[in-house]
Order: sequence, then structure tokens, then C-alpha cells
Amino acid sequence: MTQGMNNLLGLREMSPESIVEVLDTARSFREVLERPIKKVPTLQGTTVVNLFFESSTRTRISFELAERRLSADVVSFAASGSSVSKGETLKDTARNIEAMKTDVVVIRHSSTGAPHFLSRLLKSPVINAGDGINEHPTQGLLDMYTMREKFGELKGLNVCIVGDIVHSRVARSNIFGLTKLGANVAVCGPKTLIPDYLDQFGVKTFFDIDEAIGWADVLNVLRIQLEREAGGNFPSIREYRLYWGINIHRLERAKRPLVIMHPGPINRGVELDADVADGNTSLILDQVTNGVAVRMAVLFLTGAKSS
Ligand code: CP
Repeated sequence: MTQGMNNLLGLREMSPESIVEVLDTARSFREVLERPIKKVPTLQGTTVVNLFFESSTRTRISFELAERRLSADVVSFAASGSSVSKGETLKDTARNIEAMKTDVVVIRHSSTGAPHFLSRLLKSPVINAGDGINEHPTQGLLDMYTMREKFGELKGLNVCIVGDIVHSRVARSNIFGLTKLGANVAVCGPKTLIPDYLDQFGVKTFFDIDEAIGWADVLNVLRIQLEREAGGNFPSIREYRLYWGINIHRLERAKRPLVIMHPGPINRGVELDADVADGNTSLILDQVTNGVAVRMAVLFLTGAKSS
């Protein structure tokens, strides 16, 4: 963002220096979240509009909280119940909202490239809150923040992303961000859920989960995206769980301390057993807490420039 980035569209186009700037800025906002009054005046007078065209719990609430903690004015839009149901286009929706003098746009959309499209159309900074199967940059950043908080630095850390890689914008943002900061990144899952272009990013592939567990410091476990037809890529949920599901017995065979992450929502008992998700090696709720601080940092670094 110091490099003239007014938008946050993805970690693929972000420099390592800009990623570190977000992570360092988030650390000071993380401290604000521990105060009795969790609010600073940083974005007073700035209006942020959250355009959510796809379902969300964590990202939508996390952005809203981050905006309110920064004292911004917040407008939240859900496609259901809006004029999108009458056939209004994304372009018209966004331009009409901007005409009401909003300053920053946060967008989640099921179509890859929707935030990039808006960034060419609007004067306001655009922040990608997840676009199709492309990227989920604030999730990637909050994952990196959480790993850095736990391990001190990302350089040399062994991170294995497990599961439905091919449909995952979280996997892509993690791969782009982590490799830029010197982590060793691997993926593990059924062959049918692993895209074949990952070699070019220096990503290692495991097909055996026990081998991956033996290698990794971090397992970032992904949801099997049944709504994106991931289920057609393996024989049954039962079989997926048997070969790639993370359970306590598998983790007992780990050669070194291992932490578990998951972006949520979790399919409990499919990709991750409940006792692991809720166990003492799980950083899942730390990820959620850190997400607010990371989004405050992103809003500050983009929104501060617009006002
Ligand atoms: N991690 C994540 O994007 O969760 P939501 O879909 O609930 O926002």
C-alpha cells in the first residue's frame, strides 16, 4: 500500500513490503481490541459500504466491527432484498451507492474479478472480501498475522494447506502471501482437488496426510466446498474423512509441535474433528480475533488515503 496501492484486490499483486506494512499496522490495532473502550477516531468522517453478494458470517461481521472500531460510518448491503433481485447490474448498484458520497467499498462476490471490475469503475478504494475462487486477501493476511504471532516470523515456517485447494480463494491468498514472506508452503489432499499450476509458485504437494503432518509446523485446513461441487471429486464424504480428515490420532503421530488453523466455516467431522477444532493446538478463534485488527489495518491504509 505504501507502493501506491489504493485498493486491496489480492495478495498476488501486493509487494512483500506492503504485506509487512499491513501486518505491522495490525499489531497496533490488535492492542486497541484489548482496551475497555475498543474505539479510535482514525476514520471519523469516512463512509464505508460493505457490498456482500455472497453469504458470509465472519468476514462481514469482522469488516463491520473493524469499521466501527475506527469510527467510520458504515452501510451494509446484502444482495437479497436489494434491487439486484429486480435485475440491477453490479455496475449500476455500485455507481448508485458511490453517488451517495461513500468513500470506501468492501465487496464479496461469487464472480472472480468482481472487485477488480469495480476498482476500474469507481473512484473509491475497493477492498476484496472474497471473489469467487480467486482470492480472499484479508483472510490470507489474518492467517499470516496469526502464524507470525505464534511463531515470531514466517521465513522458514512449514505451512501445509489441506483439502479443497482447487476451489479455495483462501488457499490462493495464503500461497501468494506466505511464499512472498519466505515461508515453505505445501498443499495436501486428493489429486482431484489440487490444481496443477502450483509448481510455478514453489509449492510442494503431499497426497498422504500423515507425511504432510510429519513435515508441517502449521496445518491450515480448508472446508470442503460442497456448494462448488467439490463432492464430485472424491467418492464419498466418509472416504474423504478417512484419508484426509484431521483427527487427534493422526496428530499424535506428528514429529513436532503442530498448530491447526481453519478459515471457517468448518464441516465438523469431515475435514476436521471437533476435538481438534476446539483443542489446545487450535488457533481458529485467534484467527477470528486477529481478523478484526487486520481489517482495521487494511481500512486505515486504504481509507486514510481517500479522506
Ligand atoms: N472465512 C470466511 O470467509 O468466512 P465467512 O464466509 O463466514 O465470511
